[in-house]
Amino acid sequence: MRKILITGGAGFIGSHVVRLFTNKYPDYQIFNLDKLTYAGNLENVRDLEEAENYHFVKGDITDAAFLKELFSKHQFDSVIHLAAESHVDRSISEPLAFVTTNVVGTVSLMNAAMESWAGNMGGKLFHHISTDEVFGSLGEEDFFLETTAYDPQSPYSASKASSDHFVRAYANTYKLPVLVSNCSNNYGPNQFPEKLLPLCINNIKHNKPLPIYGKGENVRDWLYVVDHARAIDYIFHKGKVGDTYNIGGFNEWKNIDVVKLLCDIMDRKLGRSEGTSQKLITYVTDRAGHDLRYAIDASKIQKELGWEPSLQFEAGLELTIDWYLENVEWLENVTSGAYAQYYSKQYDS
Ligand code: NAD
Ligand code: DAU
Repeated sequence: MRKILITGGAGFIGSHVVRLFTNKYPDYQIFNLDKLTYAGNLENVRDLEEAENYHFVKGDITDAAFLKELFSKHQFDSVIHLAAESHVDRSISEPLAFVTTNVVGTVSLMNAAMESWAGNMGGKLFHHISTDEVFGSLGEEDFFLETTAYDPQSPYSASKASSDHFVRAYANTYKLPVLVSNCSNNYGPNQFPEKLLPLCINNIKHNKPLPIYGKGENVRDWLYVVDHARAIDYIFHKGKVGDTYNIGGFNEWKNIDVVKLLCDIMDRKLGRSEGTSQKLITYVTDRAGHDLRYAIDASKIQKELGWEPSLQFEAGLELTIDWYLENVEWLENVTSGAYAQYYSKQYDS
């Protein structure tokens, strides 16, 4: 029996983590804490509402008084921390929001856990979910290892790197039992359509231009979101306390190639003739400070914990596209209103 606080569980990855833990561990009590920002959506976890071991709490990880009361009321024995501002482009236009949520929020959460666990850290765990972007940008060779020096290049990755440093500093200074995992690019159902893949799926569907930053040569290492949730399960249960684990898909693609593949699959699914959607590809001004390549060496988690991705990329893309085509209402709800304003500020210039 465990009582786990999962933060950011109404977001993309968090919703898959909450689902996996709620369904796989009926003896655990799962508390999903989320502020419901533009990226948080209770529709992502609607199917869990009736589960007896699932509880939703609306709240802000930067609100120390609220966190103190929450920990005191529920006596959590562990935290899986995903809540964050997660979009690089937004971090470029609004960096302070990333410092507030990602740095101050993480420190506030650890303070609340420490206060609640004071004098008794046995069986307690703070699992911090981070990103491969903290390592910076790679050239054409090499991979990010757990030991690679941090070299964040965007306000988003600087805020995540800072939060990682604070987590390790709390482990060293206060003996907080922590785990850190750094994952590559996720894709799959429920991802907010500001990110490359769902943005392109939505635009292909509506015959809108597909904005490719720069020359589309940037490389990302794609992992299906459920495989990330599975990796978190492995690390949470089998990881060595104090350690860091890299998670990746062994699956590098140039942006332009991934978008072309998406176009081809969608032409087939939408009954369009071959090559139709690729005509929507439009090269636009590059992202400021755009990292060239990310690639994770995930051999540590593979060898030590026995985790491997379960899905091939093409199979995962098929599932993802089907989900977006079937969940019309979800997509319409999140792309109307505030998102429409964001989109036109970001792309209509
Ligand atoms: P997301 O933007 O889809 O979801 C973030 C969630 O956090 C939302 O539900 C939002 O409402 C919530 N949130 C934001 N600020 C909050 C606050 N102050 N208090 C409480 N809740 C708040 O993000 P995601 O893509 O699911 O990423 C989740 C985590 O995984 C992040 O920490 C991110 O850095 C990390 N990560 C993401 C990826 C990726 O490819 N998306 C890869 C590696 C690591
Ligand atoms: O690597 C892990 C990270 O992956 C996570 O930590 C972040 O939270 C997540 O957002 C993601 O960051 P990226 O910046 O790599 O993801 P994004 O989907 O924004 O962009 C993927 C690539 O596509 C990147 O090289 C930029 C490019 N791109 C993106 C958008 C939104 C475009 O060419 N056009 C676009 O419109």
